[in-house]
Amino acid sequence: MSSELHKILKKEELTKDDLVSLISAGNEENEIIFNHAGRVRELHLGKKVHLRGLIEFSNICSKNCFYCGIRCANKNVPRYEATEKEIVGAAKHAQDNGFGSVALQSGERSDKKFIKKIDRVLQRIKQQSGGKMGITLSAGEQTEDVYRMWFESGAHRYLLRIEMSDPGLYKKFHPGDNLHDFNKRTECLSMLRKTGYQTGSGMLIGLPFQTPEHLARDLLFLKENDIDMAGMGPYIEHPETPLYKYREVLLSKKERFYLGIKMVAALRILMKDINIAATTAMQTLHPEGQQKALIAGANIVMPNITPAKYRENYFLYEGKSGVHFNLEEVKSVTEERIRSAGFEPGYNEWGDSLRFEKRKNRQRC
Ligand code: 5AD
Ligand code: SF4
Repeated sequence: MSSELHKILKKEELTKDDLVSLISAGNEENEIIFNHAGRVRELHLGKKVHLRGLIEFSNICSKNCFYCGIRCANKNVPRYEATEKEIVGAAKHAQDNGFGSVALQSGERSDKKFIKKIDRVLQRIKQQSGGKMGITLSAGEQTEDVYRMWFESGAHRYLLRIEMSDPGLYKKFHPGDNLHDFNKRTECLSMLRKTGYQTGSGMLIGLPFQTPEHLARDLLFLKENDIDMAGMGPYIEHPETPLYKYREVLLSKKERFYLGIKMVAALRILMKDINIAATTAMQTLHPEGQQKALIAGANIVMPNITPAKYRENYFLYEGKSGVHFNLEEVKSVTEERIRSAGFEPGYNEWGDSLRFEKRKNRQRC
């Protein structure tokens, strides 16, 4: 191991330059970084991997992010909205299969009909599980009142990816209007925290024009905002998006994949007690993507339990993994991936973020 890497891995606090060194490490150093991050994870969080049954309940989105296949300007994707009954039914399936939590995810909308529907769904899921089902929500930017209402109805974690923490890059990859305002997004993260949610964020990795410095600052953004959970993954091109024109300047898919795994490892070393997801985008770029992410420090998986007829239309990027499994296969494939990586599924448990628990206890004292 190079003496520089050795020094970095022994440090208590990592600087931006340390993170750049980790992110830019070559193949021979990667294994050392992944193993170190794996040890940090085991020391702080043990061997359990917690499950969030992912229900992508609608691909209707009012936004137009330049990288995303379900942006509102893409007229070639059939739009869907699962019914309340279907969403609550999928949550029942999660419960019956021992997934302690569900994650409800959709495109962004702020109309009353949507807000009320989510509210009813949250209450019904809580009711049918006798309060036992953990619920993560990921439905974008909303007002503080809406966040509070959903919290009171049963959502206790909220995932709002910052996508990229550099305001310049954010401007480059989003339309320059009020709907895509970097400051508004960071304000939403503060509101979520204030409301009492376990707050999650994350970013896209391997975007065109993104440098190791950008990625290092992304990681520091998560730390500075004291986030409880992270979901991040490699950017994967989609033909019907403006960013597709830059496909020639991207890193190869393999390089983007390993960059994603390195980001997981670096974040685990930086924030030892948060929840980090082994995301679908990682599995899409490598047949053992989730196992590798778990070994490098991730501790959450989100098996897709969206009703089958909708699944392939949550088409964020090319080749999205897992859309063809039936619900029985989802459980066995997930369990097999977790065990083959040397971990144990944490069935029927919430698996809340340890960082969040510690903060809550400090506030009580
Ligand atoms: N590649 C990878 N991830 C993407 N997302 C959107 N578009 C892409 C893409 N092309 C991610 C965003 C968003 C989540 C729902 O999907 O990070 O937050
Ligand atoms: Fe909508 Fe999210 Fe896609 Fe942006 S990334 S277009 S907000 S679903």
